[in-house]
Amino acid sequence: MERTFVMIKPDGLQRGLVGRIIQRIEAKGLKIVAMKMRTIPTDVAEEHYVEHVEKPFFKDLVGFITSGPSVPMVVEGKGAIFEVRKMNGATNPTKAQPGTIRGDFGLDLGRNVIHGSDSPESAAREIALHFDESELSIYTRIDEAWLYE
Ligand code: RTP
Ligand code: MG
Repeated sequence: MERTFVMIKPDGLQRGLVGRIIQRIEAKGLKIVAMKMRTIPTDVAEEHYVEHVEKPFFKDLVGFITSGPSVPMVVEGKGAIFEVRKMNGATNPTKAQPGTIRGDFGLDLGRNVIHGSDSPESAAREIALHFDESELSIYTRIDEAWLYE
């Protein structure tokens, strides 16, 4: 089954949104197979956002993402990468539709609450960057027979 890397960013945690965000992921039928809380070290953050290394906002982005604890997760399900991006909404919360996490919970581009991988390649790279294989739990959710044909 497809996997994606999802991370509640420091603003989401500080603002007490962790429970509500996890609730949406679970209710969608997506399966959380790994999750932890930690402050992302600077070298990991730089690697995570390496595609943006030349951008003017790179330093602030890394500074923000390392500024306090985040909640990194591995999420599994049919079309998980696209489904999470859809649930997260547009990068800029002022452009994100109501009903999305960013649309409902954010107001600023640099404080957009949540991250989700943008492709299968990014997902594989980000999962390996943030988790050891041993941190992933393989299990069957009791509702799986009702989620998938
Ligand atoms: P993310 O990687 O964080 O899930 O967000 P994304 O794919 O929707 O957006 P991306 O283009 O990868 O940008 C990464 C993060 O950088 C911040 N950003 N700032 N100041 C700016 O022009 C600017 N552009 C992007 C955003 O916080 C975005 O989440
Ligand atoms: Mg991105």
